[in-house]
Amino acid sequence: MDIFTKNGALRPVDRVSYSVRRGETLAIVGESGSGKTVMNFAPLDLMPVGLAVQISGSFNIAGTNIAALPPSSLRHVRGKSVGVIFQDPMSALNPVRRVGRQIAEVAQKQLGLTTRQAEKRAEELLSLVGMSDPAQRMRQYPHELSGGLRQRVMIAIAVASEPALLIADEPTTALDVTIQAQILKLLQSLQKKLNMGIVLITHDMGVVAAIAQKVAVMYAGRIVEYGPVADVLVSPSHPYTCGLVDAIPREEDPSGSPFRGIAGLPPIMGAPLEACAFAERCAFTQPVCRNGRPQLHSIPQSPVSMACTVKYEQLR
Ligand SMILES: Nc1ncnc2c1ncn2[C@@H]1O[C@H](COP(=O)(O)OP(=O)(O)OP(=O)(O)O)[C@@H](O)[C@H]1O
Ligand SMILES: [Mg+2]
Repeated sequence: MDIFTKNGALRPVDRVSYSVRRGETLAIVGESGSGKTVMNFAPLDLMPVGLAVQISGSFNIAGTNIAALPPSSLRHVRGKSVGVIFQDPMSALNPVRRVGRQIAEVAQKQLGLTTRQAEKRAEELLSLVGMSDPAQRMRQYPHELSGGLRQRVMIAIAVASEPALLIADEPTTALDVTIQAQILKLLQSLQKKLNMGIVLITHDMGVVAAIAQKVAVMYAGRIVEYGPVADVLVSPSHPYTCGLVDAIPREEDPSGSPFRGIAGLPPIMGAPLEACAFAERCAFTQPVCRNGRPQLHSIPQSPVSMACTVKYEQLR
């Protein structure tokens, strides 16, 4: 996938492959700028207006390769088969329209309902996402709701057509911890009711462990680890994932212990890298990692997961 900017072409995402079934949650983790959002949103044509993006390959949702669709049909699929939730509901909602109207409009468009039916559907959706007194909530404006309730409104819009897939891009990052837990619970219960696949983009390995069955770890535009959560968390294969797993706060940590993150910064996208993208930060860097990229090899059982051939067995 390439993005063309005035300063030249970038390849923010390169040779990735992942899948999620109905009823399953795939978490996507990785540092800021690693390509999590672009990987999921560019194929849906949800990148900022005016940005030139070129994608090769396919992106199948419920049996349709949306990468091959013209924009008009893509819009239809986007509404119908895939729902999207963003980190900041305020930016996705219209501040000057009542939330009931906004949900009803989407329901009307996607399901071909009359205005009356759509109003009724909007009210049902508000109660589906756990809003008490939905009839009264319908009449409120986004700014009259708390962050958690606004996020529920956005979820109601995203699931209005009972999509096969829900893509949630850091849906709880902007919320405080107790509300985060409620929203994650809501996503899980909706998933069960509607039998949706969920792609959950998050920075939080705790969230991954709690609700995902599969995880893809991104680093510098590549998926460097992919597989069942239990396998990846217990025996990570890539040094970057080892660092992420190490950074999960543990119960036995004394309170106030410094957060164990991964030192250093990810590479700047753009210039082709001569070395391994993680070499500057890896605890196991060897000369081969800087002189040309070390070979990556596939990990059995997870076709797109790769690790370097440098002795990562030493990591554990
Ligand atoms: N609007 C844009 N214009 C130009 N390049 C962009 C744009 N959006 C993303 N990119 C490029 O794509 C790369 C990946 O960005 P992306 O937003 O997917 O990262 P991310 O993993 O979602 O980060 P975050 O955790 O901060 O949301 C960026 O490093 C940048 O090079
Ligand atoms: Mg992002």
